[in-house]
This record gives sequence, C-alpha cells and structure tokens, in this order.
Amino acid sequence: MNRFPAEFEDLLTAAGRRVLAGTSPLCGALAAPRRRFLAETGLVGERAARAAARLLDRALYDLLETLEQPIPPETIWELTKNYGERLPKTARMKTAYLDRRRERAYRRAEDIGLVGMLRSQSFAAFAAALAGRALRRRWGIQLLCYGPGDYAGPHNDHHPEDPAAQRGYLDLHVSLSGRGVAQQWLVYAVQGHFTEIINVATAGGITTYRLPLWHYTTPLVAKARARPAVARRWLFLGTFLYRHPFVAERRLPTPARLLEN
Ligand SMILES: [Fe+2]
Repeated sequence: MNRFPAEFEDLLTAAGRRVLAGTSPLCGALAAPRRRFLAETGLVGERAARAAARLLDRALYDLLETLEQPIPPETIWELTKNYGERLPKTARMKTAYLDRRRERAYRRAEDIGLVGMLRSQSFAAFAAALAGRALRRRWGIQLLCYGPGDYAGPHNDHHPEDPAAQRGYLDLHVSLSGRGVAQQWLVYAVQGHFTEIINVATAGGITTYRLPLWHYTTPLVAKARARPAVARRWLFLGTFLYRHPFVAERRLPTPARLLEN
C-alpha cells in the first residue's frame, strides 16, 4: 500500500460494509442506553490494516510529536492527608495533529491519502451507523502511535466547557498494530468500576466510545526481540459531535439519513 484509499469504505470487509448498508446487527449499538463502548474486529481487513501500519511507519513515524503527561510528583509529596491522592490525566504516546494544516505531519498525511480517507463520507457514515444518531458534518481527526511502554492513564474525555460536547460525543478508533506487539489492553468502567477489559493489540480492530466514559490504555508490551518498526500500535480516530446534542433520537435513523442536512 502506497496510499490510503479515498473512502474509508475501501478498508472494510463484507461485515464492515453491512454496517454502512444498515444491515448489520451492530447498527445503532451505541444508542442502547447502557452501552457506552463497542469493540469489534473483522470490520476492517487485517491485511489492509497491516499494510496501512507499514505505510505509516515509512511515511509518518519520523514526523510524530511525543505527547507526554507524567504523574506530577506533588501528587505524592504535597499530599497532606492519607489516601487523599488525586491522579490527573497521565499519558505517553506519539501523535500527529491532523487539524494543524501548516505542520509537516499534516502535509505528509495528506500526501499519502490519510487525511482524505478520514474526511471521507463513508468514515462519518460508519460512525453514525454505530452511534445510531445523526452526526455533524465536521469532525476531528487524529493519528496516534503507541510504542513499547506507551499508555494512557485513567481519564474520561468529558468536555463540560464545550456546549456542543457537554452532553457527550462519539470517538471512533481503528487500531493498526504491527506484528511485534505482544499486548495492549483498554480498560473501561461500567457502573463505577473498572471491570471491563478489551484487547486492542489488533490489526483492524475498531473501538467506539460514547463519551464521556472512564477508561485507560495499558502500556504496550512488545514481543521479545521484535524490531522497533513492528512493535507499534498505530491508531487513527475521528471525534464526532451529535447533530442534535440535546435530544436523544427517539427512532434510529437509517444510515442514509444519518448525514443529511
Ligand atoms: Fe480517551
């Protein structure tokens, strides 16, 4: 693969295309009141996902920025009460912000067709189909890369200061792990406890979040003696706002209607 396809649809398997066509049982899965998280494999082809990871290794790895938010030492040393600790969001990973057009990483991502694919109608239509809700026409896109030891600590991605997002929004992530990744897990909370755990060391696995939701990503573990270039998990994502953020859809729209007007 030298370029991403113009439409996200072209990465999908037959099962993935059924989501777009509105004939998959996954359509509207995240509209169920208690369902805030969905993890599925087999919707993006594994071979296509591996090829996409290799393309990103060649084209974008050298332009990534490190995103690092360590544990502040004062969370221990300035603590005045036993068990009074508070952990802010911690993380370490690499990223390319695909909303910053002047950056070299953006231009490279555009050259290899990644920006075009993440802006394609079928990407948003796919997210809308899983959400079972109409989404806004503009959405955020980003590229992340986890290497050995990279992780994201517990956080909930709530945006109470943004009127359009304060009642929730949707994130859709596609994992592109190299063959040298031994394990990485996504843990999320249900009813106040971190009880759920999902394997994200997949090539083509899709995770979809109805945010806000408490979750964390465990440190990536590489296989012994894996080459650095294959001991990475790439992840591209879209962040989607609801078209009607204050009204829960009473009826599930059909996929064709989800991106109208
Ligand atoms: Fe998150």
